[in-house]
Order: sequence, then C-alpha cells, then structure tokens
Amino acid sequence: MRQPLVAGNWKMNGSSGSVTALVEGIKAGIDAVTAAEMTVCPPYVYIPQVATMLAGTAISFGAQDVSDQEAGAYTGEVAPGMLFDVGCKYAIVGHSERRSIYGESDEFTARKFAAAQNAGLVPILCVGELLEEREQGITEQVVERQLDAVINLEGVGVFGTAVIAYEPVWAIGTGKTATPDQAQEVHAFIRARLAGLDQAIADGVQILYGGSMNPGNAAELLAMQDIDGGLIGGASLKPDDFLAIGKAANN
Ligand code: PGA
Repeated sequence: MRQPLVAGNWKMNGSSGSVTALVEGIKAGIDAVTAAEMTVCPPYVYIPQVATMLAGTAISFGAQDVSDQEAGAYTGEVAPGMLFDVGCKYAIVGHSERRSIYGESDEFTARKFAAAQNAGLVPILCVGELLEEREQGITEQVVERQLDAVINLEGVGVFGTAVIAYEPVWAIGTGKTATPDQAQEVHAFIRARLAGLDQAIADGVQILYGGSMNPGNAAELLAMQDIDGGLIGGASLKPDDFLAIGKAANN
C-alpha cells in the first residue's frame, strides 16, 4: 500500500508572521488527517522557523528547490546537505516554474534529483506538459522525456526513495484542474513506464497530482488508482483548505 502524501508548495509567499499563523493552523487541525503524510515546503529562509514549530509533530517539511552542487563557490545556491542538516525530508526538483521561468533543463533537473538524494533528501520530481503539448497530443512523450532524464543518469532504482508529481502546466495556478480521468491516464502511463524497467519500484513509488487541487476536487482525484496524493500550491496557504485536502485522503 502506498501512503498518501499531501505536500504544500508555498512558492514565494509569506512572512514570519504569516508562516507562524499558517503552521499553527495546520497543527491545530492535523489530528483529523488520519491516512496522509502532510508536508510543507516553505521558502528557504523560513525553513528553520517551520522546523522549530513542527518539532515533535508528524508533519514533515522540505524545500522547493535545491542546488545540483554539494558545496563551494555557487553564489545564491542552497546545497542539499544544508537542507538535510536543518531537517528537511523532501526537496522539490523540476517544478514547471523552475523549468519555464528559469530555463532549467531535464538534465539539470536530473542532476538536482541526484544531488538531493545523495544528501539524504527525498526528491519530489515534477513532470508535466504545457497546454500546447497536450493539444499536440504529445503529453506522454514529454513526461517520458522528463522521467528518462533521471533514469538515464541514475537508473530506475532511484525511484525507490523518491516521489513523482504529475503537474500539467496548464492546470497550475489557473483554477483549471485535470479531470480525474485525464490525470489517472498520465499517472498510469508513468507507473507503466517504470514498471517496464522494474515492477517493484513502479508499485511502490508515490505519484502525486498537482495543478489547482483544492478541497472541492481532491476527493475524486485521490480516489483514482494511481493518484497517491497531491502537490498543492494556492490551497496550501490556507490551513483549512490544506487540511481538507489531507482529510480527503482518509480511508
Ligand atoms: P496550484 O500549484 O495548486 O496553485 O495550481 C501547484 C504547484 O505548482 O505545485
């Protein structure tokens, strides 16, 4: 059985005050989330604050990105070992905003994935197609190319300790969610692609859906066979919404 995972990607939002309120709100309602692991990914600077506030709870935390380098003269970068050092469990890699706004390639994302894993973090690898790619009917090719960048560098075995997030780019922050069937189709494709290389790895890996997931659509998405949780942007900034998505994964 794959445990559901609901991850909040706060993106570049918050202040020390709002972070306190958000984390307090999540902690206050967490007992009603009985099946899913809940994790939050704050901006780097708020990670220590979140770590202190979450100490002794079952809520984990991670980073939204990570350097592909271990240490040294890389101005502005944050090393995976540093994130591990301050208690992060996860690091998101290859989010579509990194790929499209900052030009991060499949290969660069794969190096970040490897660096994160080598430092003891669990990478959350984001994959997903642009609207025009869906319209051209090449969704599966795009997702396969993004997955294969990691498999070619590291082998399929690395997905034994990693998470995949399928995020159709046209659904991110737009209020347009993929239908449960549209999402399931791609999730099943991803799992089948891995199964072709290693069945046990494919059976075990959590594949999250991301893109305008909210309390109103979470239950039907999470009910699909190959959807094992969510990567939540906007709705993760509201404790009640984030918790409601977590509760939607209760058995
Ligand atoms: P959204 O973002 O939930 O606001 O669409 C999801 C994401 O970008 O991870």
